[in-house]
Amino acid sequence: MLLPCRWIPPVMASPDTVWHSTEVTPAQRQAITRVRPRLLWFTGLSGCGKSTIAMRLEHALIAAGHLAYVLDGDNIRHGLNQDLRFSAADRTENIRRVGEVGKLFVDAGVLCIASFISPYRADRELVRHLLPHGSFSEVFVDAPLEICEQRDPKGLYKKARKALAAGNGLSFTGIDAPYEPPTAPELHLETQRLPPEACVERIMAYLHETKTLVAQET
Ligand code: ADX
Repeated sequence: MLLPCRWIPPVMASPDTVWHSTEVTPAQRQAITRVRPRLLWFTGLSGCGKSTIAMRLEHALIAAGHLAYVLDGDNIRHGLNQDLRFSAADRTENIRRVGEVGKLFVDAGVLCIASFISPYRADRELVRHLLPHGSFSEVFVDAPLEICEQRDPKGLYKKARKALAAGNGLSFTGIDAPYEPPTAPELHLETQRLPPEACVERIMAYLHETKTLVAQET
C-alpha cells in the first residue's frame, strides 16, 4: 500500500495537501497482476546490455502471465524527463523521478524493471529507501568499459571520444563522467561471459527464490 515517503524532501512546495488512502488491498492487486511487486533496478554503463536484458525479461514475464513493465532510460528521456541533460544534477533528478514512478508501479502491483545507467551510488540508495522494505533489487549489469566501447551500438562512445579530443566533452559515462559500481547488488550479471538469455534465466531464478511470481489459481 502506498504510504507517505520515508525520505522527506527538504521543502515540500505544496504543504496544503492531504494523503488519500486507497480502498484496494495489495492482495487484490496481486490476484490480477500475479506478482508480489518489486522494482528491479538495472544499473550499468551504456552498451552493457541493460535494455536488451530488460526487454527480454519483460517479454518472458508477460508470456508467463505476470504483469511486468520496463522503464528504460532512453525512452523516459523522450517524455517525462525530456527536460533533463547529463549533468550530475540532471542525472540525480532523472533517477529521483524514475524512483517515484517505480514506486507507483510497485504500489499498482506490477513487477517494474528500471533500466538506467544511474551512475551514482547515492541516487540508487535513495530509490532503495523510497520503496517499501525488501521490494527493491539492484541488478548490476556489468561489462568492462572496453567491451561497451567496442560494441558501441549507438555510436555514442565514438562521438564522446571525438568531442573530448576536440576539447568539448559530452560528460559521457565512462569517458568523461564517472560510474560508481554497486558494492552489494542483489544480482551481478557479467554480460561479457553470459549471453542475454542466460541473464534472463538468472533473473527468473532470483524471482522464484524471492517468491516474487504468484502461481495461477486453479
Ligand atoms: S543516467 O545517467 O541519467 O542514468 P540514462 O540511463 O537516463 O542515464 O540515459 C542513458 C542513455 O542516454 C544512454 O543509453 C545513451 O544512449 C544516452 N546518452 C546520451 N548522452 C549520454 C551521456 N553523456 N552519458 C551517458 N549516456 C548518454
